[in-house]
Amino acid sequence: MPQLQLKPAWAEPFGSGGTLSDARFRALSQLIEAQVGIKMPAGKRFMLEGRLLKRVRALGLASVSAYVDALFDGHQFEDELIHLIDVVTTNKTDFFREPAHFDFLRQTAVPELMKLRGSERVCSFKIWSAAASMGMEAYTIAIVLDEMVRSGLRIDYRILGTDISNPVLRIASKGIYDIEVLTQVPDQLAKRYFLRSRDPARAECRVVPELRRHVNFQRMNLMDSTYPVDRDVDIIFCRNVLIYFDKPTQRKVVSRLCSHLRPGGFLMVGHSESMVHSLVPDLKQVRPTIFTV
Ligand SMILES: C[S@@+](CC[C@H](N)C(=O)[O-])C[C@H]1O[C@@H](n2cnc3c(N)ncnc32)[C@H](O)[C@@H]1O
Repeated sequence: MPQLQLKPAWAEPFGSGGTLSDARFRALSQLIEAQVGIKMPAGKRFMLEGRLLKRVRALGLASVSAYVDALFDGHQFEDELIHLIDVVTTNKTDFFREPAHFDFLRQTAVPELMKLRGSERVCSFKIWSAAASMGMEAYTIAIVLDEMVRSGLRIDYRILGTDISNPVLRIASKGIYDIEVLTQVPDQLAKRYFLRSRDPARAECRVVPELRRHVNFQRMNLMDSTYPVDRDVDIIFCRNVLIYFDKPTQRKVVSRLCSHLRPGGFLMVGHSESMVHSLVPDLKQVRPTIFTV
């Protein structure tokens, strides 16, 4: 984790209740960028202050400024960082989000990787959902691969989902969602891969255990200089998170991710993140948002 510089010298006086002085905003945005990689330009100041207020109230503090001061005091810093991350990140995700990637997985990535493996009797795949949020991306991958197994393909698969935020990882590990999410899943697959709560008062569904056993989740910060992940991953999904990082950070993260791919493996990024191609020369673009090494 990057070194935190404690107690910056505050140049300006306290901001009032819900607002920060320029110096505190600057120090906080630098901290967020260093620890989480997320840019906090001045245009996001209002949003940041608004979101922090909820946390300030939960802690019984007098103001956002008092919160920032407490943060830089450093005693509970590691514990509080987890909450701060939840304040600044967006966890929006869906099942079958950006569906072209899942078509590519089924029609191109798996068949090509199987060809590269040649004579292996059962081909084992390792797939990584880096920035997994609540797990919908990882479970969608599992659904697609499980359907391929059902159609007779001799593959086995393990999926790793990582994210910086513990609360979303808890949801992901349980695999329990509001029943509304099933509108994102084709009917036949929803019936096959989800159990509905027997209690009608709880409008929930749960991913079936046969799918969950293929998927593991663990906390990981993409800003860390090394990742505790195998180096023979077949496919990495890193979607809708790079967009929050500045260019040098995007370059480092994508290079580190690619160092975990086996030759011929694929990296998929979000539809607004195709620019990573220009940052990392070793990447070969196979679709606007799909790369190989
Ligand atoms: C918008 S969600 C994307 C979820 C999923 N990949 C998708 O496309 O549907 C972004 C996720 O990135 C995570 N995130 C943000 N900064 C991160 C970091 N430095 N390391 C790991 N995960 C991070 C957030 O916690 C959030 O769950």
